[in-house]
Amino acid sequence: MDLSDMKIPQHVAIIMDGNGRWAKKRMMPRNMGHIQGAKTVEQICEDADSLGIKYLTVYAFSTENWNRPDGEVSAIMKLLRNYLKDCIKRANSNNMKVRVIGERSRLSDDIRQKIEQLEEASKNNTGLNFTIALNYGSRDEIVRAVRRLVKDCKDGLEDMENITEEMFSSYLDTAGIPDPDLLIRTSGEERLSNYLMWQLAYTEFYFSDVLWPDFDKKELIRAIEKFNGRERRYGGVGEE
Ligand code: IPE
Ligand code: IPE
Ligand code: MG
Repeated sequence: MDLSDMKIPQHVAIIMDGNGRWAKKRMMPRNMGHIQGAKTVEQICEDADSLGIKYLTVYAFSTENWNRPDGEVSAIMKLLRNYLKDCIKRANSNNMKVRVIGERSRLSDDIRQKIEQLEEASKNNTGLNFTIALNYGSRDEIVRAVRRLVKDCKDGLEDMENITEEMFSSYLDTAGIPDPDLLIRTSGEERLSNYLMWQLAYTEFYFSDVLWPDFDKKELIRAIEKFNGRERRYGGVGEE
């Protein structure tokens, strides 16, 4: 299929999985997989932008990933520090607007600060909208949204009678971001692992056996090709 004939999804969400297995295959410590995986993220941002994707949302660390051994969690946090620092420079050279979703209070102060700096520094950029899900869990996001909404109702800022799907969406971390058109999960696992459950209600899913550090533009195009073959019905009868 010719790229110019393809419908490009506006928003692609990715569950970047398989870093550990990538490292294990090479007899390397798991952290090497995370390091390589972080490089892949940088490249995929550029590739997504060059393909005309407007929104890219990646799952970097889940609310359940704290259950990993302390050494792995702290190695991921260290990598994250470097990544965020670097991302400020890259965001500005690539005109990328970066946003972080997830619960922040469990992250260390310096990481929180770097996130704020990154969001502030890139907020006027008009290229790719890049969202990083960090200490993110869909259930946690929904519970936090419900809490804020209930409080606003109690405080008289919102009326319970006016609660709609759109209004509820605006209480989620992803407020203002359109729902994903295409979800990609790498490494052969076929589950959501608590990712964007509300937002993925009508998203097309694509599962790839490729481990995240090996994911590249060719694989991204393959996923978009598959997406082009899908018929999105949204509960209707579709094309006769
Ligand atoms: C994804 O790779 C990265 C994170 C969850 C942080 P994994 O670390 O889950 O890699 P596998 O699934 O063990 O191979
Ligand atoms: C999902 O991957 C979370 C991220 C990619 C950040 P996991 O590797 O943590 O998911 P499970 O444990 O296989 O479901
Ligand atoms: Mg995994």
